[in-house]
Amino acid sequence: MKTETTIQGLSASLNPARASRKIIGFVPTMGNLHEGHLNLVREARKLCDVVVVSIFVNPIQFGPNEDFDNYPRTLEQDSHLLAEVGCDIVFAPSVEQMYGHQPRLTNISVAEITNDLCGLQRPGHFDGVAVVVTKLFNIVQPNYAFFGQKDYQQLAVIKQLVRDLNMPIDVIGVPITRAADGLALSSRNGYLSEQDRKTAPTIYKTLKLAEENLQKGQNLSDVLVQIRADLTAAGFEVDYVEARTPMLQKIDQFDQDVVLFVAAKLGKTRLIDNLQIKHSS
Ligand code: PAJ
Repeated sequence: MKTETTIQGLSASLNPARASRKIIGFVPTMGNLHEGHLNLVREARKLCDVVVVSIFVNPIQFGPNEDFDNYPRTLEQDSHLLAEVGCDIVFAPSVEQMYGHQPRLTNISVAEITNDLCGLQRPGHFDGVAVVVTKLFNIVQPNYAFFGQKDYQQLAVIKQLVRDLNMPIDVIGVPITRAADGLALSSRNGYLSEQDRKTAPTIYKTLKLAEENLQKGQNLSDVLVQIRADLTAAGFEVDYVEARTPMLQKIDQFDQDVVLFVAAKLGKTRLIDNLQIKHSS
């Protein structure tokens, strides 16, 4: 496995693969890797000849009061994990390498679907993601790019971006990887106190209970109220509990497939999760 820290170095490493028309798979990450990330790499390994993983903590997708400075940076450990799952090239650029010294005047804003859910609490976040992912796509020029359904809204934004701008890339969504107790794996889980870590799986439990209740015929808005109440009772500060169609349109009855979304804080740590529920008929 090679590690490249410059755009030029990465191009030099990838040019032979490009010349021989190898299928290039790309997994963008911010590092501090866990099984959720590694499953994206495993998926890429199945479909592609060459697998590139980027590790870059992207400053422009963090809000002023978010954790950019403290975001865990664990490149050495990440590299060991990536070598084990068959990554070919790690791209770990500096902020300077990615953004240079000239001011950036171009922004990329995906409308509507970013003015909802996490976009409301994190203004500018998805613009920052769209910009860095576009830059990384241009640098890596992959055939396939892999994103987790854990960040369902982010995946929807990337799919929209690729469609709207005719980027020649297949975006693959990979299911959420969970701990044995149901908690969706996340780099931010490491911020939880021991006690909060025990409480955190309640999110998934409330989502699974909601699924059961919907399938029993309970009304969608009652189910959402119940999730919120259960999370609040467990000690969460709820940011949102929402239902959307798989394309992120508003929905008020369970008469088609639905995705339930939760964002909630335990102490200072904001956790997100979602559950896709099929409508049978
Ligand atoms: P990061 O949070 O490091 O996540 C990288 C990728 O791993 C994302 O596609 C995310 O959805 C996926 N992922 C994280 N936890 C997962 C889990 N438990 N199950 C499945 N997939 C999971 O998302 C970002 O970085 C950044 O916004 C990025 C796209 C790299 C742009 O900076």
